[in-house]
Amino acid sequence: MEETTTLESGLTRDEAFALLTQYNEDPYHVKHALTLEALMRRFAAECDPSNVEFWGQVGLLHDLDWERFPEEHTLKTEELLAEAGASPELARAIRTHIFSHDETAPRPQAKMERMLFAMDELSGLINAAILVRPSKSVRDMSLKSLKKKFKQRSFAAGCSRDDIALGAELLGIPTDELLSLGLEAMRAIAEEGGPVD
Ligand SMILES: [Fe+2]
Repeated sequence: MEETTTLESGLTRDEAFALLTQYNEDPYHVKHALTLEALMRRFAAECDPSNVEFWGQVGLLHDLDWERFPEEHTLKTEELLAEAGASPELARAIRTHIFSHDETAPRPQAKMERMLFAMDELSGLINAAILVRPSKSVRDMSLKSLKKKFKQRSFAAGCSRDDIALGAELLGIPTDELLSLGLEAMRAIAEEGGPVD
């Protein structure tokens, strides 16, 4: 049903980006936000084309409060977004991405929310895998190599394999298919000169 509704975030992309950089100084955090934005825009273009901007802002702002208010993760974002005049739907979508760690957070329902959850940890794993490649790039990373990194839990141990598998389950696809989807999208973003190496 959500595919036919046009969602308004209440913010322009410039306002959303200004908010991100107001609360995030760590370049890694900004890059992670831009990566999720690029991924979300890409998937929205495929499955919810009237809401590309909304999906993009969900990706861009999903960790808005993480750097300065980690103990209030997503709740502080809700407050900051309300102050900035954003629509409550934006905060709700963002709240869902911590559902596996916080039972007070709503469960992802919309495809957008499921995709955010699935891509958050997976993009982290792919980024960690990029760093150990001789090319330092995703462009020549094979699915086989990513699958190996996924299985090797000591590698980038902070990236929750359980959350990645749960993300695939939420999307109704096998984990290997999610790995492939994420890798292809990250590769395409890198090829286009986006925020992925
Ligand atoms: Fe994140």
